[in-house]
Amino acid sequence: MNKIIIAIDGFSSTGKSTVARQLAKELNYIYVDTGAMYRAVTYFALKNDLIGEGFFHSEKLIERLDDINITFKFNEDLGFAEVYLNGENIEKDIRTLEVSQYVSPVSTISEVRQKLVEQQQLMGKGKGIVMDGRDIGTVVFPDAELKIFMTASAETRAKRRYKELLERGHNLSYDEVLENVTTRDYIDSTREDSPLMKAEDAIEIDNSDLTIEAQLDSLIKLAKAIA
Ligand code: DC
Repeated sequence: MNKIIIAIDGFSSTGKSTVARQLAKELNYIYVDTGAMYRAVTYFALKNDLIGEGFFHSEKLIERLDDINITFKFNEDLGFAEVYLNGENIEKDIRTLEVSQYVSPVSTISEVRQKLVEQQQLMGKGKGIVMDGRDIGTVVFPDAELKIFMTASAETRAKRRYKELLERGHNLSYDEVLENVTTRDYIDSTREDSPLMKAEDAIEIDNSDLTIEAQLDSLIKLAKAIA
């Protein structure tokens, strides 16, 4: 079987990462969560007081981009690759509501996108990769052999995310989560540089009423039909 590139894009909290990760495992492919990379940059900016309540020093963040080194390391126990910032495991730190609130504005900065897109393209050079994000099928790999665009209603997505955050011990309300999901949808799909949109040749899957198993099943069939 030929190794291919599988691009999975879609709105936040569509469950793309869960399905993408399992798909990669089934196919013995590399899996890359590009949202984690934008979150890592956001975490760096928050830690270095470049962004925060009432301030957003994008120019200073751009100046510091060379100080940001993002890597992934496979964790055998967890069964997936965790994200590292300058050698420090930040997998848990990037999933907080604070990072979620700032990540969309940070993702509008073209210089940030350029840096991350370059790194993502290098990771996909050897193919055999499942990458999920917002611009994978449109900008990062416009020639990807298989492109998927995941959707689900904002309420379905907020409910999933709320449950996930509660399970991780975060204390917040459903309304806060729904607000974050809809705000991010808006910023992600209206930004000037690489807005979230369905690539013309992407297959759209609305997974509001689909189990993970059902999604995985159809993705494996699609991938095997091409590879
Ligand atoms: O997939 P996620 O929710 O972890 O992504 C976090 C944010 O990162 C999302 O709101 C927009 C941004 N992002 C992006 O602009 N481009 C990508 N390829 C992936 C994520």
